[in-house]
Amino acid sequence: MLNNFPLWPVQASTIARSVDALYIFLLIVTGMMTLLIFICLVYFAARFRYRPGVPAVQIDGSHALEITWSTIPFLIFMVIFAWGALVYFKERTPPADATEVYVVAKQWMWKIEHAEGQREINQLHVPVGRDVKMIMTSQDVIHSFYIPAFRIKQDVLPGRYTVEWFRATKPGTYHLFCAEYCGTQHSGMVGDIVVMEPAQYETWMNGGSTGPLSATGEKIFAELGCSTCHRTDIQGRGPNLHGVFGKPVQLEDGRTVTADENYLRECILDPGAKRLKGFQPIMPTFQGLVTEEQVNALVAYIKSIAAAKGEAAKASASAAAPPAQENAQTNALANGSQVQ
Ligand code: CUA
Repeated sequence: MLNNFPLWPVQASTIARSVDALYIFLLIVTGMMTLLIFICLVYFAARFRYRPGVPAVQIDGSHALEITWSTIPFLIFMVIFAWGALVYFKERTPPADATEVYVVAKQWMWKIEHAEGQREINQLHVPVGRDVKMIMTSQDVIHSFYIPAFRIKQDVLPGRYTVEWFRATKPGTYHLFCAEYCGTQHSGMVGDIVVMEPAQYETWMNGGSTGPLSATGEKIFAELGCSTCHRTDIQGRGPNLHGVFGKPVQLEDGRTVTADENYLRECILDPGAKRLKGFQPIMPTFQGLVTEEQVNALVAYIKSIAAAKGEAAKASASAAAPPAQENAQTNALANGSQVQ
């Protein structure tokens, strides 16, 4: 019984040790403070107790004492703050070359799709020793993706992506919980994280895949007619999407934003919100027409043409560069620079 309900979960990710160290430090500091307060309490109660015939003495304060009990806690808090920030940023910044996994939460299950195309429900298979980045969204309400053994937890929100990453250090099966109350069967919204040896994982990966997620995205891109405006050979009515992902883009309202997962997602579901400079507001919204899984596949596809064919896009953009103002933007997009 206790094996399934340990007081202290196993440390199974690279971040676990640093989270635990900080937590133990907090326990020690608060434990010592509690002890100190109780010792003072008992001592003063005894020392200054009422005794017949002994008049009470008034103490008018002490600057030295006040400065001491302000400075020492302040320094301790600053240590906690700095230490916490270091751990936080380490945990919040996924390594650039991490394997990507898309997570869609819904009442009450976790739907998971690997970039390589494997799909699973309430299970996530990962290899040991590899960085895994999860790009997560919800189909309905707020959920929270929580793996105690990895010491990571991140809210999963409808209408946007949130990101979480880990590197597993020990093969085994670990609990996945939903950590945000999301309705009747919230407590049943659980799953398994299966950490495998790399060779074992390869075998698992090769069984029954539907092909890479980006290929699914390419198919949807064609089926929805995206490819009629977003041409990949020449400039169409919409921006050419080759090499766009991860680059800064300039918007009609003058702002510059990075074309990340959330930006692509917003452009698909609410094209008017952050329209690219130089393009007409003619793109229809795909809100309600595509599922979260399809949005993920489209995003994976746009990412893949940025990574794989970035060089080709650069070449074709500079070769085709007509002088019109709209096309200057395309060029800038493909080259990753900004229009001034
Ligand atoms: Cu999903 Cu709680």
